[in-house]
Amino acid sequence: MDEVGARIVTDPAAPCCKRQRVQALEGHAVQPHVHCAPLHVQTVFGDRMPGSLEKQIVADLGSVAKMKEDFIRAGATQFGSGWCWLAVRYGRIEVMKTANGENPLVHGATPILGCDVWEHSYYIDYRNRRPDYLKAFVDNLVNWEYVAEMLAAASK
Ligand SMILES: [Fe+2]
Repeated sequence: MDEVGARIVTDPAAPCCKRQRVQALEGHAVQPHVHCAPLHVQTVFGDRMPGSLEKQIVADLGSVAKMKEDFIRAGATQFGSGWCWLAVRYGRIEVMKTANGENPLVHGATPILGCDVWEHSYYIDYRNRRPDYLKAFVDNLVNWEYVAEMLAAASK
């Protein structure tokens, strides 16, 4: 990793997506840094979703309910540790899952929402009920306003 990359990765004030991107480009394990992605979703929210985001979810994934269903299935079927995602590739929103610390950037997609399905992220509250954790996450914890901002940035 070059000096600039190292500085971005270790600077807690750097935008998390930039740290993620540098990490992915450098091919290092990303999990300590990709954890900053969900920090944006732990404050409010529930079902309020900007119209621009809802419109693209409906166009690309069928409906908001179908998106949630696919997101939960992706996280629940990620064998072992990993993440599930909404990510933008070729201008479309996709539901993805990745193993361990990998993220969609290494598959040519830009993450706009990520959920950690490493056991440590849910075991205390949900034991082995990972699907219940994922449902609680996608129904109650996502800041869809921020996801819409990420979508707009990813679509430029
Ligand atoms: Fe984690």
